[in-house]
Amino acid sequence: MAIRFAIFILILAVALLVLPRLFARRVPPFQAPAPPQEWWQRAVFYEVYPRSFADSNDNGIGDIPGITSRLDYLHSLGVDAVWITPCFPSPQVDFGYDVSDYENIDPMYGSLADMDLLIAEAKKRDMRIILDFVMNHTSDQHPWFLDSRSSRTAAKRDWYIWRDGKGPGQPPNNWTSVFGGSAWQYDPATGQYYYHYFYPQQPDLNWRNPAVKKAMFDSVRFWYERGISGFRLDAVDTLFEDPNLTDNPVLPGTNKFGDPKTEEKYNAKLPEVHDILRELRALSDQYHAVLIGETWTKTIEELKAYYGLHDNELQMPMDFLFTTVPKLSATDFRTQISGVNSAGWPVYVVSNHDIVRSYTRWGDGVHNDQIAKLIAAMYLTLRGTPILYYGEEIGMKNTDPTLKDEVKDPIGRRGWPLEKGRDGERTPMQWSDAPNAGFSSVAPWLPVPPTYKTYNVETELKDPASILNFYKGVLALRRTQPALRDGAWIAVNENDPNVLAYLRRSGDQTILVALNMSDAPQAIRLKLGPQGLSSARPTTLLTTLSTPPDTVSGKVHLEPFGVWIARLDK
Ligand code: GLC
Repeated sequence: MAIRFAIFILILAVALLVLPRLFARRVPPFQAPAPPQEWWQRAVFYEVYPRSFADSNDNGIGDIPGITSRLDYLHSLGVDAVWITPCFPSPQVDFGYDVSDYENIDPMYGSLADMDLLIAEAKKRDMRIILDFVMNHTSDQHPWFLDSRSSRTAAKRDWYIWRDGKGPGQPPNNWTSVFGGSAWQYDPATGQYYYHYFYPQQPDLNWRNPAVKKAMFDSVRFWYERGISGFRLDAVDTLFEDPNLTDNPVLPGTNKFGDPKTEEKYNAKLPEVHDILRELRALSDQYHAVLIGETWTKTIEELKAYYGLHDNELQMPMDFLFTTVPKLSATDFRTQISGVNSAGWPVYVVSNHDIVRSYTRWGDGVHNDQIAKLIAAMYLTLRGTPILYYGEEIGMKNTDPTLKDEVKDPIGRRGWPLEKGRDGERTPMQWSDAPNAGFSSVAPWLPVPPTYKTYNVETELKDPASILNFYKGVLALRRTQPALRDGAWIAVNENDPNVLAYLRRSGDQTILVALNMSDAPQAIRLKLGPQGLSSARPTTLLTTLSTPPDTVSGKVHLEPFGVWIARLDK
């Protein structure tokens, strides 16, 4: 009996020792992806809306010296590249997106010397400056357009898109401006219409004219020679239009401006845009510069096209599909993340100067601060390059105008109340709890919300549990942990509707990110077997959980909107 029992124990021991090894051998060895090599793949980008970032001369409007004065802050946050939205001379109808001189700085923001200093000071900190290239249109006050509209035979007539109307008072076709109304503006001086996809004060350039391309590329070179490291390309989708001016198909219903809805079949995403992008890329490659695209796409396939068939177009087309996830949803984010991973090098954006702030969009009104941290833990730990929008790191919320008379953004005045405009996401950066949030000593161009008293850089820096310190923590991890910087992205528990969990894995390191996207506690069993990690030992790197798990083999408990980032060691 005793012998039988001993044999049984022996067999059991052998089985326990051998079986897991046999099983473990079935796990295919992990193939680490080649680490990304390009500077922009390893960089963290930060968008500055210059009117609203820092006001150095106390006139209520931000400026370039203001940005320079805050470089140390951005550096300590973990930012490597700063994209500044247009700061060129402009009548400011669209707050700088109506450029009247591509090779200068608007006096409101400073001078070329100020920009040179900003570039030099950034360089000292190993940071780069990215400018905004408004390619689709100029201001109607640009000397090119002033010439173009002066007569039908003007030298630059063909630099813009001029056409006869269909008849008296009838525009050439049914194309509408994305900012409301017909996209055609009648000009009585020469009796023709010009095309403007945006405001009438933003006439579209004719990119089919080689002289336009040359002049615009010269300006790109001008800035590269001055030391900038790339451009964010404005409105690339709409550079070209069908030369036959075919009417767009009409869809049911009306838009926020009361115009009939149409499908932009003949005035957006024409294939010709790719020829321009390839040429611009070749020019940019000479300067090791990066091209970031304002690429509004409806599908991953459309997004993929912007990388170019041979990765020879945009290095960083922004994935706006990510911002269209309507509410916090592990399932939807998982789908988006794996989609963009299959398209090319992902570029993550959660809000910008045209899109409602993420704090407001994904906040539930009760747990907004936890959700802001959860979002940071997500988009800053993914494989890809993140672009932060100023103020996201301190939990700035949208502050929309409450009265039509207060609205500054013209689309808000035209579309009120359905379209309130974009003032809400453009309010001044909240630097401290001093009057006007420390942005300016006079009333700023847009009001700051009363919550600035708590949500501001100075106050949050002192609070270890603040959103700002959480951002700093995640960005520090991204810098120091090879798996977060270079590793593959691998989804785990792919069917979980509440918890978004994934691994970042490089040759010798694995990091687990588990995000509870629900307002209820979740207890999950992580399915790490396929990765050969079911009995790995976790070491918590960053968490919002009161009691972070000490094992991954049992149930992992995540508090509502809880974040757990842990290194896994075999
Ligand atoms: C882009 C900009 C937006 C601007 C428009 C017209 O969409 O992001 O702010 O109004 O282009 O230039």
